[in-house]
Amino acid sequence: MSTILITISFVLMFWAAAPRVAGAAGGILQIPSSDSLAHCIPSCGDVDIFYPFGIGPGCFRQGFDLTCNHSTKHPKLFLGSSTVQVTDMYHGGFSTPIIFTLTTTPGTYTYTMSWEAPAKGITIGGDNTFYVVGCDFDVTLFEYGTQDVVGSCMSRCGGKKAPTGVPCNGIGCCVIQLPRDLPGFQAKLVSTNTTATQSDWLHPGIMAFMSLDDYEYRDNTTAIFSSWTNVRNFHGAMLRVTIVDQPSCETAQMKNASYACSSCQNSSSGGYGCYCNRQGNPYILDGCMQGTSGPTSPK
Ligand SMILES: *[C@@H]1O[C@H](CO)[C@@H](O)[C@H](O)[C@H]1NC(C)=O
Ligand SMILES: *[C@@H]1O[C@H](CO)[C@@H](O)[C@H](O)[C@H]1NC(C)=O
Ligand SMILES: *[C@@H]1O[C@H](CO)[C@@H](O)[C@H](O)[C@H]1NC(C)=O
Ligand SMILES: *[C@@H]1O[C@H](CO)[C@@H](O)[C@H](O)[C@H]1NC(C)=O
Ligand SMILES: *[C@@H]1O[C@H](CO)[C@@H](O)[C@H](O)[C@H]1NC(C)=O
Repeated sequence: MSTILITISFVLMFWAAAPRVAGAAGGILQIPSSDSLAHCIPSCGDVDIFYPFGIGPGCFRQGFDLTCNHSTKHPKLFLGSSTVQVTDMYHGGFSTPIIFTLTTTPGTYTYTMSWEAPAKGITIGGDNTFYVVGCDFDVTLFEYGTQDVVGSCMSRCGGKKAPTGVPCNGIGCCVIQLPRDLPGFQAKLVSTNTTATQSDWLHPGIMAFMSLDDYEYRDNTTAIFSSWTNVRNFHGAMLRVTIVDQPSCETAQMKNASYACSSCQNSSSGGYGCYCNRQGNPYILDGCMQGTSGPTSPK
């Protein structure tokens, strides 16, 4: 067996340079009212910002600070000082691109891809799927940290180009559905024919991305191949957020920390998540909508 060389070219680098948990000053721990957040920046580019995330003192819960970078034509939103970009935000979560392109080298068979959440309390939601596109490989996905096997899939092309317009089910494309929320992952890819992965002049190499389990991608590889030419078109992965400064719903309620929670769920990884029965933001005072007479669009 030849030396294992890792030659991954990240299209986008997702490594957090340093843990940002200790990060920016000015984070709050009590539950704010929407009035006390009125001065906060509501959006960055076309991404709306929802508490507990925020920019600037008094606008975010400790550990949930964001940075809006205006140096590009379209401002970009990032988690703290990390390189994890926020491309869309929801109550309790956000989406971020997690995309890898591998340039395979003849004679090199093993490649790895990995992604780790930049802070405790951020996980890749179990409703995401890992899509891997290319010819003649086996992939195994491991949970970051525990190294537990999460799933595996394989692709064979039988000496032909990866076909488009077919489901992503093992010919030129395969998927691994996540069984649960993960703090990150490592994917080990073994190429079974390094000639085959380079045989397609249009899409040389192998590409992988994490995204919601989306029929548009899963049932017809055409959408995947058309996004490959401009990877920024890919739908991002859905990340979930839990509050980890309290160990459970009960302790949070005792400290009034979950004031607007219509329903509170312990997280398996410690901490809790807060949800509204209807719409609204459970992380602010009276933030959940109470039928039609409730607050209109709280942020
Ligand atoms: C914004 O992005 C530019 C270009 O990527 C980078 O050089 C700069 O350091 C960033 N600014 C901040 C405040 O992060
Ligand atoms: C796959 O998607 C493409 C582009 O949207 C479409 O033209 C094609 O008919 C689809 N193929 C199948 C089998 O649904
Ligand atoms: C490897 O891939 C090339 C190009 O697709 C093909 O011609 C060749 O038969 C494959 N080799 C094996 C052992 O499958
Ligand atoms: C949450 O966790 C705490 C302590 O681990 C436990 O006592 C409690 O019953 C759990 N609550 C729910 C709603 O699962
Ligand atoms: C929680 O809120 C209730 C009602 O506002 C208040 O009476 C109580 O003192 C609070 N408890 C703590 C620990 O802050």
